[in-house]
Amino acid sequence: MVMMGLRILVRAPLLCIGGIFMAYRLSSDLSGIFVITIPIILIFVTIVMTRSFPLFKTMQEKIDKVNNVMRENLLGVRVIKAFTIEHKQKDRFDMANDDLMTQSVRAQKMMIILNPVVMLLVNFSIIAVLWYGGFLVEAGTLETGKIMAFINYLTQIMMALMMVIMVSMNFSRAKASADRINEVLMTESSIKEPTASQALAQYDIEFKDVSFKYHEHSEEVLKHLSFTIKQGNRIGIIGGTGAGKSSLVQLIPRLYDASAGEVLIGGKNVKEISLHELRDKIGVVLQESILFSGTIGSNIKFGYHDATAEELDQAAINAQAMEFIKLKESGYQTEVEQRGKNLSGGQKQRVSIARTLIRKPQILILDDSSSALDMATESKLQGAIKEQMKGSTIIMIAQRISAVMDADQIIVLDQGQISGIGTHEELLKSNGIYRSIAISQLGEEAVNHE
Ligand SMILES: Nc1ncnc2c1ncn2[C@@H]1O[C@H](COP(=O)(O)OP(=O)(O)OP(=O)(O)O)[C@@H](O)[C@H]1O
Ligand SMILES: [Mg+2]
Repeated sequence: MVMMGLRILVRAPLLCIGGIFMAYRLSSDLSGIFVITIPIILIFVTIVMTRSFPLFKTMQEKIDKVNNVMRENLLGVRVIKAFTIEHKQKDRFDMANDDLMTQSVRAQKMMIILNPVVMLLVNFSIIAVLWYGGFLVEAGTLETGKIMAFINYLTQIMMALMMVIMVSMNFSRAKASADRINEVLMTESSIKEPTASQALAQYDIEFKDVSFKYHEHSEEVLKHLSFTIKQGNRIGIIGGTGAGKSSLVQLIPRLYDASAGEVLIGGKNVKEISLHELRDKIGVVLQESILFSGTIGSNIKFGYHDATAEELDQAAINAQAMEFIKLKESGYQTEVEQRGKNLSGGQKQRVSIARTLIRKPQILILDDSSSALDMATESKLQGAIKEQMKGSTIIMIAQRISAVMDADQIIVLDQGQISGIGTHEELLKSNGIYRSIAISQLGEEAVNHE
């Protein structure tokens, strides 16, 4: 739009104004025709533009829809095949596509009438010039040659107008697109960088009456949580699915901000610590392991490019990733495809754990990060982390009690509330939920024995 606009928008108005001026000098009588035709054209163009703009805007939304359906179909191709619902998905795509087509046709129909109407007006003007000019020639006030020259100017002016109209048509599309793009670009992050940042020196974590909801009008996912975690402790968090475990830990590195209450690290509100400082000191292994295309090595060094070969090895060994990396022909140089498609779930998890361990964070958060590992590997991982991350605070979310049993403190979360805090033994005695989880996983005998 800018490319086209720059040239045409400079040339066309000059041609138009110059044409009118010259035509007026040629014959002021005949120029009266402009007073009628030009306003009609301008009014018409304005009407069409204002009507077509909303149409283009919805068209842009329909394009979104088509992209959305197509992306879902591509990403979920195996699920679709497994459920044999190809035809259904095809129908969904067809529907979105038809929708887009109908909308495009409506918008184009609006635009397409511009050309013929303008041409019609031009031709009527020429007829008017010939007719009125005829009288003037007969009366002897105008020469025949001047009529021809006048018609030339007239077509010149109209062509210039047509060009402006063409650009305007593009303009309404461009504006609809630009609005859409700006909607995304102008979105402000709700996580604000503090103006004056405080450095971290101490790493006790404290939740003070923290509540959290994902959206302003949605239900609270975490309700009035208060607890403290001492620096260097190992904390387990356990609770049913949807209890709010992942939501809770994401408040610490400010992936989300608490809706009410305060999250403090070393006595300072996390909102007063610069994001860089905060996230530099906190290592999070998120529940969903997302890898980036590159090599296994580059993925592990993702947040710490200057890692030495020893550091890389150490991280891989600690994360129990070494065993499978060694088996690969090209080791660390093994290619990782987009989103880590060519690695198994457990391999992905281990690479993403190594990626965090290599940075030696002061606070390490593991969100159900060993769920895809077998029991033996998991316990080796636990041992390595305990050994290598001495001094760091470790927060582990787990579904399996065996993973958190020997933690200094276990937080039992139930529907966004703390149901109990204590060691394994304490909770077995005092907490019904914990006890029932323990019985279901370890067996009644083992629990009663303790
Ligand atoms: N991005 C999100 N937007 C809106 N609601 C969310 C979002 N993520 C989670 N929730 C909701 O918050 C609640 C708690 O989710 P959360 O992921 O914290 O549970 P969880 O304890 O980690 O569960 P799991 O053990 O299955 O990982 C759920 O009811 C979920 O529907
Ligand atoms: Mg979770």
